Amino acid sequence: MTASNIPESVRAVAADGTQLRYALMELSAQYPDAIALGRGDPDLATPPHIIEAVKLAVRDQRTAPTPVAGMTALREALAHKFQTDNGLPVDADNIMLTTGGQEGLFLLMQTLLDPGDEVLVPDPRYTSYDEAIESAGGRMVMIPTDHEDAFNLRPEAVESAITPRTKALLIVTPSNPTSGIVTEERLRGIAEVAIKHNLIVISDEIYEKFLYDGWKHFSIGSLPGMAERTITLNGFSKTYAMTGFRCGFAAAPKNFIRAMTNVKAVTTGPVATISQWAGLAALNGPKEPIETFHRIYSERRRLMMDGLLSMGLSFSDPRGAFFLWTNSSSVGIHATELSYLLLKEGRVLIFPGTGFGENWGGYLRISILQNTDLLHEALERMRPIINRYRAAH
Ligand SMILES: Cc1ncc(COP(=O)(O)O)c(C=O)c1O
Repeated sequence: MTASNIPESVRAVAADGTQLRYALMELSAQYPDAIALGRGDPDLATPPHIIEAVKLAVRDQRTAPTPVAGMTALREALAHKFQTDNGLPVDADNIMLTTGGQEGLFLLMQTLLDPGDEVLVPDPRYTSYDEAIESAGGRMVMIPTDHEDAFNLRPEAVESAITPRTKALLIVTPSNPTSGIVTEERLRGIAEVAIKHNLIVISDEIYEKFLYDGWKHFSIGSLPGMAERTITLNGFSKTYAMTGFRCGFAAAPKNFIRAMTNVKAVTTGPVATISQWAGLAALNGPKEPIETFHRIYSERRRLMMDGLLSMGLSFSDPRGAFFLWTNSSSVGIHATELSYLLLKEGRVLIFPGTGFGENWGGYLRISILQNTDLLHEALERMRPIINRYRAAH
């Protein structure tokens, strides 16, 4: 499979996850009519009561910096959320706010890792993990997951990757990019492995509110013996359509939170105060907006599933999150090139599987974060391109 049709700006980074995604986004910005099914940031409006809380905070000048770990009222509200939603035995001192989940990842790797430490990460993956681990001098070790198993994580696969240098295991459920989940049964098996081998578990649960078809979210930190070895990462971006507020949070043992807070103190300092007010309003406000978001995403997901199936494309069972992890190998073109062609000829931005690991040249990650009219339009633009290249191979 040739990559010769791909411009240098994309080809130069074609094997590289995060940079490849950014190169495609830059290219897409040249096409005003492009439909973006790339990024995983919600397109829906932030609920009005959250916006109102920000206006009031600004009006009343409640904007002074907070303690580095975040304002006490918000940490208390988050402790309550973790107790009731996730079954974690935490109080406010187990919680800190971060500048998005993204910063949480960096802070925790900087705090946790010594040079040469290994972190087990499921493949495919959200490649910000790579940068966070490598910037702390750590080494990422891939745990294979596969389509037949809906990209669920196997305790045996985790155990067989452990070496004397393994410090931590990273779990993401629901998953970006596969939209698979790690089921409760598997999490119980993984917890046993973590305890037996004295591993820290990092659990990225940022998509926890968006599961479909009756699947239920489960937090590994709630299992016996796990709270003291689990760092749970989450944030407001996905649940409340608040990506731009840059407000994430982490729950962990108290001494670990103190150590992460010390790193944050010398890097970014506390999360912007108005974003923290927004977070507090989100947690204390009505739950209906999340239900509405869920209904909208469910409808879009169905539309995309039907549309892809109608063009002969299959995908892994999308149990959560915002993506269809679509097997494009029947088209006969490497996914990096196919993404480029879909953008250039169809004006649809879709990330190739290679944006999430070099092994995934037969997959596309299609996000559902556009309204249904645009999703219909995107499918109609994709169809002739898929058909044409499939016929040619
Ligand atoms: C799996 C996963 N974790 C963490 C994040 C970070 O999100 P944010 O920094 O907006 O909280 C993302 C964002 O896309 C993600 O997909």
